[in-house]
Amino acid sequence: MNKIKNIGVMTSGGDSPGMNAAVRAVVRTGVYHGMDVYGIRRGYQGMVDGDIFKMKTTDVSNIIQRGGTILKTARSKEFVTEEGMEKAYTQLRNHGIDGLVLIGGDGTFRGATAFFKRYSIPAVGLPGTIDKDMAGTDFTIGFDTAVNTAVSAIDKIRDTAEAHDRIFIVELMGRDAGYIALHSGISCGAEDILIPETVTHINEVLDRIETDEIRKKTVQIIVVAEGDDFGGAKEVHESIVARFPKLDVRSCILGHIQRGGAPSYADRVLASRLGFAAVNALRAGNTQVMAGIVNNKVVFTPFEQVVKGNTPISEDLIEMIRVLSV
Ligand code: F6P
Repeated sequence: MNKIKNIGVMTSGGDSPGMNAAVRAVVRTGVYHGMDVYGIRRGYQGMVDGDIFKMKTTDVSNIIQRGGTILKTARSKEFVTEEGMEKAYTQLRNHGIDGLVLIGGDGTFRGATAFFKRYSIPAVGLPGTIDKDMAGTDFTIGFDTAVNTAVSAIDKIRDTAEAHDRIFIVELMGRDAGYIALHSGISCGAEDILIPETVTHINEVLDRIETDEIRKKTVQIIVVAEGDDFGGAKEVHESIVARFPKLDVRSCILGHIQRGGAPSYADRVLASRLGFAAVNALRAGNTQVMAGIVNNKVVFTPFEQVVKGNTPISEDLIEMIRVLSV
């Protein structure tokens, strides 16, 4: 065990449900081992500005069930400059911080990789993003909740779609990854799922709508990822209306509702396990790595390898979607 005494914890990039549970786990594990734990507000921007405060175990009482992040978050433009990084390093030194836990998505780890090339501070990351677009982990903190939120919304949309015999296009988040759309679409029995990991041939989508109409399958839900190669809900909607002007078509962009709300049990457990593991990794000298979960075991992956990692979508899954949506 090495001698890290003061750790800083921050949340960065888009917030995700479960970030609070992760902060709680880091603070409580750190304090349990006699460390001082400092919260850094607003991610890297707070590091640059010195928005840093000492946390007590009671500061994280009653937050495991809350969405958002009590530490707030930001996407910092200043931190990516050399001057910004130097300011951040000076602030960390002034507060005596000799270890870091970084909770965020791929942008957080891109920032970390650049920073730690210049300055040497032990750090461990946690994957906190609804997008599930990172290598080194099967799940990211917030993904499960975001999918559950999308599923509950699409189930409601299906009710009204059925009442009116309508086609609905639902656009889901994920930046340039399609996992939220894929998992939500499968769970809702979507008639089609359009994601960036597979090429979208819009004519095939339209042909299928035609076939469904002929055999009187009048309710159709098409889930499209915001990053799909063909476009989002607007583009898909326009293509459908252009070919089938008589069909009743509506679209819904679910948006930031997917980022909020109480974290699911799965996200709370994941965040707690990874927060606990991160502090123990720092104590053991296993640093500049992200803690992730693979086959239900905590594993550690160097920062530079987690920067971007879309797991390929298996052919089996693609075939299953086709078969089950007939
Ligand atoms: O990375 C999380 C995410 O919610 C993406 O799914 C989405 O593309 C993006 O953040 C939206 O970012 P912002 O809240 O800055 O508009």
